[in-house]
Amino acid sequence: MTRNIVVTSALPYANGPIHIGHLVEYIQTDIWVRFQKLSGNHCLYFCADDTHGTPVMISAKKTGVTPEQLIKKVYAEHRNDFARFLIEFDNYYSTHSPENKQLSEYIFQRLNQAGSITKRNVRQAYCDNCNMALPDRFIRGTCPKCHAEDQYGDSCEVCSATYRPTELINPYCATCSKTPTFKSSEHYFFKLADYEKKLKSLFKKGHIQKTVANKLNEWFDAGLKDWDISRDGPYFGFKIPGEKNKFFYVWLDAPIGYMASAKNYAEKNNIDFEDLWNNPDKELYHFIGKDIMYFHALFWPAMLLGSGFKTANKLFVHGFLTVNGQKMSKSRGTFIKADTYLKFLNPEHLRYYYASKLTDSIDDIDLSFDDFINKINSNLVGKFANLASRSGPMLNKKLKGRLGTLDKKGKILIGKLTEPAQQIKNDYEKLNYAAVARNISRLADLANQFVEKQKPWLTINEDREKTRNTLTAVINAVKIITTYLKPILPQFAEKVQKFLNLDDLNFQNIKDTLENQNINKFERLAERVDKKNVEKMMEETKENQDQNQKTQQPTNLEPLAPECTIDDFAKIDLRVARVIQAETIEGADRLLRLKLDVGGPEKTVLAGIAKAYNPDELTGKLIIYFANLKPHKMSFGLSEGMILAAGTGDKDIFILSADAGAKPGQKVS
Ligand code: MSP
Ligand code: ZN
Repeated sequence: MTRNIVVTSALPYANGPIHIGHLVEYIQTDIWVRFQKLSGNHCLYFCADDTHGTPVMISAKKTGVTPEQLIKKVYAEHRNDFARFLIEFDNYYSTHSPENKQLSEYIFQRLNQAGSITKRNVRQAYCDNCNMALPDRFIRGTCPKCHAEDQYGDSCEVCSATYRPTELINPYCATCSKTPTFKSSEHYFFKLADYEKKLKSLFKKGHIQKTVANKLNEWFDAGLKDWDISRDGPYFGFKIPGEKNKFFYVWLDAPIGYMASAKNYAEKNNIDFEDLWNNPDKELYHFIGKDIMYFHALFWPAMLLGSGFKTANKLFVHGFLTVNGQKMSKSRGTFIKADTYLKFLNPEHLRYYYASKLTDSIDDIDLSFDDFINKINSNLVGKFANLASRSGPMLNKKLKGRLGTLDKKGKILIGKLTEPAQQIKNDYEKLNYAAVARNISRLADLANQFVEKQKPWLTINEDREKTRNTLTAVINAVKIITTYLKPILPQFAEKVQKFLNLDDLNFQNIKDTLENQNINKFERLAERVDKKNVEKMMEETKENQDQNQKTQQPTNLEPLAPECTIDDFAKIDLRVARVIQAETIEGADRLLRLKLDVGGPEKTVLAGIAKAYNPDELTGKLIIYFANLKPHKMSFGLSEGMILAAGTGDKDIFILSADAGAKPGQKVS
């Protein structure tokens, strides 16, 4: 029976690039979706960018663009990254969309009608300088418990205490360092505790993995609290209907973004949204990381229950990525962006590696680059691709690319390879990709052993038809193994399809054999990973990071002048000059009149350095002179050029008084 399935991955934040940590999730989901499609099920995969909230607002401000401009740019980048990792969404949308606005308002209204919304005053931090309410993470100060400085508004990284931002000692705005004020403001709350019973009965029906259930029990024991779902403006999000300056908190409209993406898909494809999303005969699955469990296991199903929508059949929670055994870290250069990875390494290699590590557990998974290189080179290249390159080229060159029939030994081999098909399907279905990968690798070993035993490179000189049949068995092994691998390695599979002259490889035609037909020209299927490329990728990651730190530091700096190109700069002719004479100017207490020896005719410059230098001090000094500046007339006379000095003004101005070496007129480079 064909199943109808809708699948989502968590919506990545629109304030940053996709990195290899995110990719654990999107690769995990994409493999599952591809597996369903290859099994003949009808499956749709929806996702979107999560665009709202304070971080997006602040990122936009920092880079001098509007939030709309920022999310547009990031959207294009995200889509490009996903496409290059062969993650194939049926719809990739945005939470900043009319569908999401309408659905968010609708669900809010339904919850309100159900009596699940309440209003209450809260004290909140506000930065008058930045003109915005400060979320806990955007306010810093001294920990009220251990007095460690520079801690977040909600918790201390030194003593792990949690507290309210109002308790911080010497609080300051994380963006501009000014002291915030605390104001009282009315907020909307969702009464989560009202849903405790319904949630518990949902979880009894197997909505979640066991380990997740344990975590949820802790939360139930601690008691479910009301959830603050509104934010005061200015805020990048949807305005709450009937309010002037209050918005839905980003986490209210974010999961509704799953529905909005489905709705947008339904509209584009002329199908009924209600049926697509809410029909109990259709299955619905959410893939998420363990950090956002609270939102997806408690708030989200409660919101759906309260507003009359069905809940997902299951929440699939995965663990976090660690790199070389440690948390991803900017300073260690392991915070690798999808884009950086792609400059040096092959996307299918990461897909295969993650698959070989993924199970249905919420334990973290580790990417160790030595292990990565080893696995790709020994399995993907050494086993799977090798099998094809041991059969394809010989068939093409010596046997006119024509397959024979399966002999007895060949049939036994093929029987062994198709036998675990159901097991592999079950493992895919249950997210046990690591088991799938192990199984496939074992089967590839069997097939390679077959080649070694049959020795086609020897028999080709004695018995061409026997050899043809041996190679036919190997080609059939390639077909079966590639079918098993197809959800993980779609591009690899496509190359094999082309080479084997097949329209499609899927789980339904796994037992169909290829005999007495032609194959096409063989193309190399996989390249080895070179350790140097891994190193280059890590280096570039570190460089990016250093640069980021530099560009992110000057948050208090005045905005920069318009960009200047190297050609603009090359127009400036800087020369060494010697001060022949310096004098004060009547009525201009900042200016000095300088007569300069610039190597040619004497020049006069009026320079604003009177507060820093006495005229006498300057005579005889060498300075840097902007020689080709258009002479400009000032009320105190003509100034022919400009001298360069550095400093913050008044007394703190310093000329380059290089006494040694240089001659007037000499070019500065
Ligand atoms: N925007 C929210 C999700 C809203 S869903 C309605 C969010 N975005 S995120 O960009 O931070 O993360 C997107 C997904 O990637 C999450 O499921 C998260 O768990 C996952 N991962 C982010 N970093 C990860 C690792 N280092 N390792 C594994 N998964 C990670 O959360
Ligand atoms: Zn501020």
